[in-house]
Parts: sequence; C-alpha cells; structure tokens
Amino acid sequence: DTNGNIEYVNQKFLDLTGYSREELIGKNPRILKSGETSPEEYKRLWKTISEGGAWKGVFHNKKKNGELYWELASISPIKDKDGKITHFLGVKEDITDRKRAEEALQKTLKELSELNKNLDKRVDEELRKNREKDRILIQQSRLAGMGEMIGNIAHQWRQPINALGIIIQNLIPAYENKKLTRKYLENVVQKSMDIIKNMSGTIDDFRNFFKPEKEKEQFSIKEAIEKTISFMEASLTDYNIKVEFKFTKDVLRMGYFNEYCQALVNILSNARDAVIEREIKKANIWIELKEKDGISCVTISDNAGGIPEDIIDRIFDPYFSTKPQGTGIGLYMSKMIIEKSMGGRLFARNILDKKRGKGAQFTIEL
Ligand SMILES: Nc1ncnc2c1ncn2[C@@H]1O[C@H](COP(=O)(O)OP(=O)(O)OP(=O)(O)O)[C@@H](O)[C@H]1O
Ligand SMILES: [Mg+2]
Repeated sequence: DTNGNIEYVNQKFLDLTGYSREELIGKNPRILKSGETSPEEYKRLWKTISEGGAWKGVFHNKKKNGELYWELASISPIKDKDGKITHFLGVKEDITDRKRAEEALQKTLKELSELNKNLDKRVDEELRKNREKDRILIQQSRLAGMGEMIGNIAHQWRQPINALGIIIQNLIPAYENKKLTRKYLENVVQKSMDIIKNMSGTIDDFRNFFKPEKEKEQFSIKEAIEKTISFMEASLTDYNIKVEFKFTKDVLRMGYFNEYCQALVNILSNARDAVIEREIKKANIWIELKEKDGISCVTISDNAGGIPEDIIDRIFDPYFSTKPQGTGIGLYMSKMIIEKSMGGRLFARNILDKKRGKGAQFTIEL
C-alpha cells in the first residue's frame, strides 16, 4: 500500500523467503533487511517512488531462516486515473546464483591476475639472473682477452727488449775502445728511439684490437684474418707454429670487425694450446678463406690430433675446458659473437688429411 506495507505476495516470493503469506501481509518489507543496505539508500528509494518514479537496485536480503540471498528489485508506483499513487508494485528476481557465479569469477580473475603478477616477477627474476650470468661471462672473456693481449705484447717485446739490452751493453766497451764519439751516441739514441716507438706502437695496436664496437660495419674478412695473424704472430712463432693463409678472393661482410677477430684469436689460441700440449713437432695452422653465394667461409685447421670425440659436443658450452688453467669460455664467446651478434655459423669437426695429418677444423660462415 502507500505506506509500503505488503498487501499481496506471489507464491514464488513465499518459496524464496520461507515466510507464509499470513506472516507477510500487513508487514513492511523491511523484515527482509540484512543490514547491508545503507539507510540513505532506503531513503533514496522511498523518495524516488513516492515522487512517482521507478527505482531499480540490488538488495542482499535475509530469508526467514536467516540465510542471505540477492535480489534484483524494481519498485514503481501504481497511480489512479487522477495520477494519485494508490499502490507500490515490487517485482523482484532472485539473482543469488548469478551473484555467486559473478563472485566466483571475480575471485578467479583476482587469483589469475595475482598469478600473472607473480609470473612477471618470476620472469623478471630469471631475466635478471641471466643478464648477471652474461655480464660475468663477458667480464671473464674480457679478462681472458686481456690475458691474451698481455701475452702477445710480451712475445712481441721480447725481441726489441733484447735489442735494447745489446745496445746498452755495448756502450761501455765502445767507451773503453775510444769509439764513443758524438756520432756513435747519436746513432745509438736514434736506434733506441726507433725500437721504443715500435714497442709503443704495439700497445696501441693491441688496444685498438680490444675496443668494443657499437655499430655493425662492412668489413673485409681477409683483413680481419691478416690482422689476427699479425696479432698472434709473435706468440705462434715463439712455439715454432707455422701459419699459412690462403684465399681465393676477399669477401666483404656486415658485422663487428674486432669481435670477428676476437673469435679468430680464440680459435687460434686453442690450436696453439693443442699443439703445445701434445708436443707436435711440425706444428701447423692452415687458414683458408672461400666465398660461396656472397657468404664467406673461413676454415682454421691444425695438426694437433683433433678434439676427442667424447667431448666434441661440449666444447662450445660455457665453462667447458680440459685445460688446468682454462676458463672454458673461449669457444662459447666465439659462438655468441659469430652466431648471436652477427647471425653467422661456427662449428667444429675433426679432419684427417694424408699430408697434413689429424687435427681439428673450425669453420666460420658469415
Ligand atoms: N684445436 C683444438 N684441438 C683440440 N681440442 C680443442 C681445440 N680447440 C678447442 N679444444 C677443446 O675445447 C675445449 C674448450 O675450448 P675453449 O676455448 O672454449 O676453452 P679453453 O681453451 O679450455 O679455455 P679458455 O679459452 O677460456 O682459456 C678446450 O679445453 C679443448 O679441450
Ligand atoms: Mg680457448
């Protein structure tokens, strides 16, 4: 009625709330209140309908037995022909199942998003760990490269240091033999300065060699090989290792010149280590440059006896080494350089040649 008291309820309403018709007639629907809807909301409802408007909303109501249920309610006034409100009509739908499904969905969504967040965190963590590993590897390979550089400078300086020593030792006999003229001294100074200039040039060469490059550039494969040979020459000839370089024609490729040389240094120093360790009498390294369909193919072969078959699958793994002092990152880094940073290919196999003997052969395709 116009006071909001119940005049009529249908059977479905009784089934849902558990009340009997007698219990409800004459009562205000507030007996279903669960206390979750705010007094302001009820005020708004009442104001809306008493002013002739329709109100729609959701209540969390209580059944007779105390159980809660959700209802979607639409309440509107019924007017007589003069426009006076005579009754209020409430049409209600039990949406408890829908609400529950919604809640379950919300819960699942929340769990999913939580899981997602964790997943992101886990992926980030793994990425960070990987970056850390890479950083350590790069650091180690830089150290190994520096070791190689210092070793090569030492080899290259041996001869000029000897020459300087002889020049200085000859000064006293020259003085005693009264040969120490101004001209003699000028000659000595000139010769010594030339040697020293040369030695300092060596340091610059090696420094440049290890400078990292940022941009890919077109470079000559032949030049990279020749530069690497001259870089390694002193340390190879000190061990009587002969290096032969053959090429049909030069190939120009895009990439990082110094890094390419770095990979060559790693392969050449491995060949050097192998012939030294196995005490090969006539040690040889053959480097060949070929071209096929614009792609360069460089093979570096030695006659040190080859890579044992049981480890050949592992030589490119990081930290795999058979040497007491080896870090095992030389070949791993070389593969990263050629394949990951330049998109080429690096692989190894053993070869047996009638004339050359048995040895390892590394191939770089770029
Ligand atoms: N030319 C070769 N002949 C025989 N074995 C080789 C040859 N090149 C590489 N190997 C094998 O592959 C292993 C891995 O080489 P890699 O250059 O990655 O590491 P390493 O030389 O042991 O150490 P690092 O280069 O870090 O000082 C070597 O320990 C060696 O057993
Ligand atoms: Mg090595």
